[in-house]
Amino acid sequence: MKARILLVDDDPSTRTYIKEVLEEKEYEVTAVKNGMEAIEALGDGDFDLIITDLMMPGMDGFELIRHIRALGREVVVIIMTAYGSTDRAVEAMHLGAFDFISKPVKPDLILMTVARAISWMQLKKENVYLREKLKDRYEFGRMIGYSDAMRQVFETIRKVAAMDSTVLIQGESGTGKELVARAIHYHSHRRNGLLIPVNCGAIPSELLESELFGHEKGAFTGAIRTKIGRFEMANGGTIFLDEISEMSPQLQVKLLRVLQERCFERVGGVRPIEVDIRVIAATNQNLEKAVAEHKFREDLYYRINVVPIHLPPLRERGSDIIILANHFLKKFSRKMNKSLKGFTPEAEQALARYHWPGNVRELENLIEMLTVMKDEGLIDVKDLPAKVTMQEVGFLPSLERELLIAGSYQEMVNMFERRILQAALEKTGGIKSKAARLLKIKRTTLTEKIKKLGLDGS
Ligand SMILES: Nc1ncnc2c1ncn2[C@@H]1O[C@H](COP(=O)(O)OP(=O)(O)OP(=O)(O)O)[C@@H](O)[C@H]1O
Ligand SMILES: [Mg+2]
Repeated sequence: MKARILLVDDDPSTRTYIKEVLEEKEYEVTAVKNGMEAIEALGDGDFDLIITDLMMPGMDGFELIRHIRALGREVVVIIMTAYGSTDRAVEAMHLGAFDFISKPVKPDLILMTVARAISWMQLKKENVYLREKLKDRYEFGRMIGYSDAMRQVFETIRKVAAMDSTVLIQGESGTGKELVARAIHYHSHRRNGLLIPVNCGAIPSELLESELFGHEKGAFTGAIRTKIGRFEMANGGTIFLDEISEMSPQLQVKLLRVLQERCFERVGGVRPIEVDIRVIAATNQNLEKAVAEHKFREDLYYRINVVPIHLPPLRERGSDIIILANHFLKKFSRKMNKSLKGFTPEAEQALARYHWPGNVRELENLIEMLTVMKDEGLIDVKDLPAKVTMQEVGFLPSLERELLIAGSYQEMVNMFERRILQAALEKTGGIKSKAARLLKIKRTTLTEKIKKLGLDGS
């Protein structure tokens, strides 16, 4: 991409001359005549570089640099000084200018300085990016799961990471699909390339095409410059197509071609562009059903469903719920400087019994909220929100979880009985004869059971 340069000089002939020199090398140049106009121009557009004269009427170069720093703008500044005023140039460098050139300006020198400033800026950006990437890897190390289902997922990740096969990750919202995509990328030989995510559901379909494939300058109204698409950015790395079920039928056709040929054209372009990418797709919808309902192309489905990874909902991960809850509690407790030690057994039971429609994300958010509210000790049931502790009548949770809480067959039976009786009593306003009739048992049997299960409050 060509750098955008803002040129500031009060002398019209210098402005015209330098602008021509730079435009010859296809830089985009905006020229203004003083500091005030420069600030205005900065407000309107993004510039990579500013070349400014030091002595100007009104706001001079020094003031302009100070102003830019105060605005917190990441832009490289090169200053121009009259011959013999190096002291002032040094002063400007102290303020954060990148370099200076003396007037009269020689074309070669200015082009060289500009090129150097731009590569320095790119290095700086890369540095930020590298730091971000390290953070990502650290996060992967935190993907937790001891249940059989999750161990299987980890095993698949390990195997598929070594290959270039296309992966389809399916699972309810908040089950960790994005974490899995990252894990695959950072364990693959593509780890030094980019992982480019595209949320197909969040980008309006009329924009998605140019977002994915890029466009040529003038391809449509508003396409003022050539744009690189996400497929091109991902070259050498991985593209993560999130919420793939939301892709329009016409884009599905185009995606199919990229998957088959690893080749496409930019919107409005004719030149085929080849890319070396791994594709990972994810969805919280049932894609097979979408295929049956003709909402998703069958041929595309088979193309992406090469290695399927199914992430189980949190409610089916047994003891992982408690392990994750403790993990998040430790994390947030450390972050917020609290000394929370864990959960009471009753609170753990409630957490294990809840059905977690929002999965790991919901659990993580809940624990964060609890950490905000409490400072020390153990989290108790009464600290938990009603939706977690309330038993939904008619909701029979999975066996695995019940067993985890109850521990034995008899305790499980007791737990179910207790719940059935509670529901019946609640429904009949606590009148035992009515409750007995509802359950089609004798009143004496009901009374006995109530006593045995400790429901009479004794
Ligand atoms: N196994 C895990 N261990 C630790 N944290 C996890 C785990 N799974 C998910 N998380 C955390 O839960 C949150 C949700 O995960 P993620 O964004 O990957 O879910 P998702 O399946 O992509 O959800 P959605 O369908 O809503 O996009 C994230 O903050 C993630 O770090
Ligand atoms: Mg996601």
